[in-house]
Amino acid sequence: MKAIRCKAYGPPASLVFEEVENLTPKAKEVLVEVKACGLNFPDTLIIQGLYQFKPDLPFTPGSDVAGIVKELGEGVSHLKVGQEVFGFVPHGALAEEVLVPSNACFPKPPQMDFPTAASFLMAYGTSYHALKDRGRLAEGETLLVLGASGGVGLAAVELGKLMGAKVIAAASTDDKLALCKEYGADETINYATQDLKSTIKELTEGKGVDVVYDPVGGAYSDAALRGVARNGRFLVVGFAAGDIPKIPLNLPLLKEASIVGVFWGAFAMKNPKANMENTMTLMKWHAEGKLKPHIHAIYDLADTSKALEEMTNRKVKGKLIVKV
Ligand SMILES: NC(=O)c1ccc[n+]([C@@H]2O[C@H](COP(=O)([O-])OP(=O)(O)OC[C@H]3O[C@@H](n4cnc5c(N)ncnc54)[C@H](OP(=O)(O)O)[C@@H]3O)[C@@H](O)[C@H]2O)c1
Repeated sequence: MKAIRCKAYGPPASLVFEEVENLTPKAKEVLVEVKACGLNFPDTLIIQGLYQFKPDLPFTPGSDVAGIVKELGEGVSHLKVGQEVFGFVPHGALAEEVLVPSNACFPKPPQMDFPTAASFLMAYGTSYHALKDRGRLAEGETLLVLGASGGVGLAAVELGKLMGAKVIAAASTDDKLALCKEYGADETINYATQDLKSTIKELTEGKGVDVVYDPVGGAYSDAALRGVARNGRFLVVGFAAGDIPKIPLNLPLLKEASIVGVFWGAFAMKNPKANMENTMTLMKWHAEGKLKPHIHAIYDLADTSKALEEMTNRKVKGKLIVKV
């Protein structure tokens, strides 16, 4: 089969598209014929050896997958060969076939096409876990989303509205913010041209926001934390800007605010039942037409490097998909 291979840690251009050996499922594994793989920012980090875990070289990147069951390992009874599925793997999905752990492989809802299914789990799974389980976002509260037109950011805007919050979307271009408005944002901040901290104050009549969702890091984190309301929650989701901010700890003290970490992959692994309940809620909302994943572009497998470059160059709104 053909696969995208990372043979040495480096930028997207260093990835290789080549023939590799076919795979055989072990117990509790599902062999999936890949139809689509959704790209996520962590894919750009894992190939550079900059992510939380480093797979042994060479490896195939790609995590969000949708496809058709080709073969079942021993002990898998909830799926059958030929069934359309979607799932999540630590890496391996940018290929014609992937082995998915059976507890991370779900029947694909019939109303979702393959690209939509491949765009879904990480973006919505992360943002729902962040807002509900970690941020305890309540109806009527104000939510600020940084990097609001990105994969997890746009999902947070949509979910924040669905959970009854007033949503302020912050991003770097007016074009990106226009999309956030379409996804329900009540207010917008262009943090490339407007001062983040003072605009948050203006938009909240001096009170500040109850919850900050931060997948960006860098200089924006400090300004956003200074715009948090009393008893606010600051959700640390990621550092797409590259710098891991050093936060002055007097800021949470003064506001009795909380800085809360979010790591959906670890949550899904350690709490599969709770993650399954969240996934069922998200799939129900999608079936009811309440969630509409935004697909920016669809690339061929051979062009994966170009797609990942587009992501690192900050050009993507919503999700990028690789079709196989
Ligand atoms: N904690 C978790 O469980 C979890 C799960 C999934 C993802 N993440 C993290 O969340 C972050 C976003 O992931 P994603 O898949 O949503 O990525 P994405 O679609 O590329 O979105 C990232 C956003 O960050 C902003 N950004 C600011 N500086 C950037 C830079 N130098 N390069 C790229 N983007 C920059 C961009 O918006 P503007 O141009 O508007 O600033 C972009 O829309 C990543 O750090 C990822 O590792 C964490």
